[in-house]
Amino acid sequence: MLLFAMGFLLLILQPSTGQFPRVCANTQSLLSKECCPPWDGDGSPCGQLSSRGSCQNILLSQAPLGPQFPFSGVDDREDWPSVFYNRTCRCEGNFMGFNCGECKFGFSGVNCTERQLRTRRNIFQLTINEKNKFLAYLNLAKNIPSQDYVIATGTYTQMNNGSNPMFRDINVYDLFVWMHYYASRDTLLGGSNVWRDIDFAHEAPGFLPWHRAFLLMWERQIQKITGDENFTIPYWDWRDAEDCGVCTDEYMGGRHPTNPNLLSLASIFSSWQVICTRSEEYNSQQALCNATSEGPIRRNPGNHDKSRTPRLPSSADVEFCLSLTQYESGPMDKMANYSFRNTLEELLACKEPCKGITMQYRSRSEDKKRTMKMIRGMSKAFMESA
Ligand SMILES: *[C@@H]1O[C@H](CO)[C@@H](O)[C@H](O)[C@H]1NC(C)=O
Ligand SMILES: *[C@@H]1O[C@H](CO)[C@@H](O)[C@H](O)[C@H]1NC(C)=O
Ligand SMILES: *[C@@H]1O[C@H](CO)[C@@H](O)[C@H](O)[C@H]1NC(C)=O
Ligand SMILES: *[C@@H]1O[C@H](CO)[C@@H](O)[C@H](O)[C@H]1NC(C)=O
Ligand SMILES: *[C@@H]1O[C@H](CO)[C@@H](O)[C@H](O)[C@H]1NC(C)=O
Ligand SMILES: *[C@@H]1O[C@H](CO)[C@@H](O)[C@H](O)[C@H]1NC(C)=O
Repeated sequence: MLLFAMGFLLLILQPSTGQFPRVCANTQSLLSKECCPPWDGDGSPCGQLSSRGSCQNILLSQAPLGPQFPFSGVDDREDWPSVFYNRTCRCEGNFMGFNCGECKFGFSGVNCTERQLRTRRNIFQLTINEKNKFLAYLNLAKNIPSQDYVIATGTYTQMNNGSNPMFRDINVYDLFVWMHYYASRDTLLGGSNVWRDIDFAHEAPGFLPWHRAFLLMWERQIQKITGDENFTIPYWDWRDAEDCGVCTDEYMGGRHPTNPNLLSLASIFSSWQVICTRSEEYNSQQALCNATSEGPIRRNPGNHDKSRTPRLPSSADVEFCLSLTQYESGPMDKMANYSFRNTLEELLACKEPCKGITMQYRSRSEDKKRTMKMIRGMSKAFMESA
């Protein structure tokens, strides 16, 4: 799928709002358009009796749509979540979550008043025990159903405007794969028509906040299923890397000895199945990805087309990106010139000289299309395995 974005229409995603809270994935909630579940602590909607929050009409941005998306009222993600719900919990103070039952990121304690500092660490600086714990956590997430969230397997129209709910269970890891897919999928226009130039998570100012919230939510879910309140996602510092240092069986999986596109059987990730990889199939069926397994993780580090992506970004590329003082510029999309956001987003896509993203536009959009496909493949591969 081609990742174009809309300039102004951003997915206004409350960080705590996964898709979808299980307790609201039913006919009653959909027809009333209200998702204000009780908080376990006192049984009241949104924990209202404990002043944690209250059920309120949602607030939508009044900002005009960008010219990139010439429709309105055709995509469930417009003015999210208003197509599904128009009343949700609005939480007070440091409370957060679809029922105000959680603390805002960075806070803990029964009243969410304790500041909590967690640090993300370089994966190569973890001890062997810490690293193995991380892999075990990932594998647990991949095998444990999400209690709090389900995924939609049909559009609102396909659900007969709510009277025929279409949802299903998903494991904690794939919940995030699916959410990423759902935010960036094409618009289904009916018949065999789709609109590809849309994305609610990429190529627009929301790119960074969306992914920041995404990773924080992901960490929170891992913390919950493991009981390890201090868990953070380790990072791989790929600056100037000659090859894929995490692509070994000790980390994210090495190469299969006879099939270079597969992972080594010594890696736990060789038994994982991917989901949501077949966008053309969903488009032709006018269907959503329903999280059916679609085969093993395919990865082939080092054997990519070097004429398209000669190398991983260098320290100089990163420095250049950090030197940009404007967060966003111009059309605020993939064409934004000297935009920190656009430069960062395309860091992995650029050709020599790698600081080109903001200056040199590829003349042919086909070229761009292929490049974006590839990046998407790369980030998906990383999501699937890391
Ligand atoms: C929310 O949706 C319900 C059901 O469609 C409707 O009756 C109600 O008027 C809507 N409320 C607002 C504030 O839009
Ligand atoms: C949490 O807040 C409640 C209500 O304000 C208060 O009674 C209780 O003592 C607080 N607990 C802690 C541990 O701060
Ligand atoms: C769903 O809602 C839309 C817009 O309000 C309406 O045009 C359509 O007829 C409804 N469909 C069903 C099956 O109720
Ligand atoms: C998390 O870190 C805090 C602060 O270092 C520590 O007090 C606490 O025991 C840790 N929790 C777990 C479950 O390890
Ligand atoms: C899930 O989606 C796939 C691919 O679009 C489709 O072939 C399959 O029938 C769907 N399964 C269910 C249970 O809807
Ligand atoms: C981007 O900005 C630079 C510096 O202002 C300018 O030289 C260049 O022409 C701009 N490129 C485009 C395509 O607008």
